[in-house]
Amino acid sequence: MKIRQEQIPENEFKRKYEQENVLEFGKYFTDRMFKINYRAGEWKDPRITKYGPLMLEPSAIALQYGQTIFEGQKAYRTKEGKLNLFRPELNVKRFNNSAKRMAMPEITPEIYLDSLKMLLDLERDWAPKKIGSSLYIRPTMIGTQGRLGVIPSDDYLFYIILSPVGPYFPEGFKPIKIWVSENYIRAAPGGTGYAKTGGNYAASLLIGQKALEQGYSQVLWLDAIHRKYVEEVGAMNIFFVYQDTLYTAPLDSGTILPGLTRESVIQMAKDFGYSIKEEALSMDDIVAGTKDGSLQECFGAGTAASIAPVGCLRYQGQEHIINNFQIGEMTQKIYDQLIGIQYGMIDDSYGWIVSV
Ligand code: COI
Repeated sequence: MKIRQEQIPENEFKRKYEQENVLEFGKYFTDRMFKINYRAGEWKDPRITKYGPLMLEPSAIALQYGQTIFEGQKAYRTKEGKLNLFRPELNVKRFNNSAKRMAMPEITPEIYLDSLKMLLDLERDWAPKKIGSSLYIRPTMIGTQGRLGVIPSDDYLFYIILSPVGPYFPEGFKPIKIWVSENYIRAAPGGTGYAKTGGNYAASLLIGQKALEQGYSQVLWLDAIHRKYVEEVGAMNIFFVYQDTLYTAPLDSGTILPGLTRESVIQMAKDFGYSIKEEALSMDDIVAGTKDGSLQECFGAGTAASIAPVGCLRYQGQEHIINNFQIGEMTQKIYDQLIGIQYGMIDDSYGWIVSV
């Protein structure tokens, strides 16, 4: 694929994000972006342009009816200056699964990955050096046709933007407090929960804001039918450790985002000798586990958030503290191995890394 590069006048390069102690998640964007349009059934005109606003019809289907999908991945800078992608082929696969659910065209792995590698190569200097910081990658597809009929768009734009980021949670790798949502739900069977589409996140904003106001970092979603089984956190999948067993919600209801970090955590935990139970876990069991001490650890896992220890769950008006609000042994082990592989500090025996 031949990717056209638009000229960007030298004085329009920002070159560097402001140097801040804490690099806020998703606040800065690099100089360039990748774009390709889908028209008359074909992907056309792949190009790298200056990062900037898009021209869209006010009636664009993405804006009116939310026909949008995205991915979240990261490029981790190694000390040799390489940019490490983590299992990028799985992002392409998930992106195309989201596309199918939202009646959008699929994109070839070649378009997605060749353009990403070229963009990363051009923007290499933007990748932060600190462990825990990275270049966050946001591939996105939107329905661009202007029309008010509720039918899929004929035209689409696929683009990739890059953002130098620090830790997702300002506190870094420290236990966070989570608000369990009792009245609002994120996804129901048959809905779009497994797709990475804007609407899933839009629906989380109101309760997420309320949780933040009360000092909780994120919302934990329960299942839509019984309102008692733990599903996911929205920006992360969630794991619970009972002795040598690791629990997480199963994917078969279609209500949970199939996280790459989730899958990798499961693989690493198996190799550490833990048994894995992808089973529905109820809040009643979790609360009982915090009381009798059998629930030893809880952590979230996602690309943006990496591994986030959870020290407190607020449910039915009470705070349930896990592991004395300390980082657990298993959580630390998984975090060290994951970060070690991603930043090229330990051997990638799984073959998960693609270097640019
Ligand atoms: C990610 O983990 O990359 C996500 O997409 C979560 C969130 C920032 C939307």
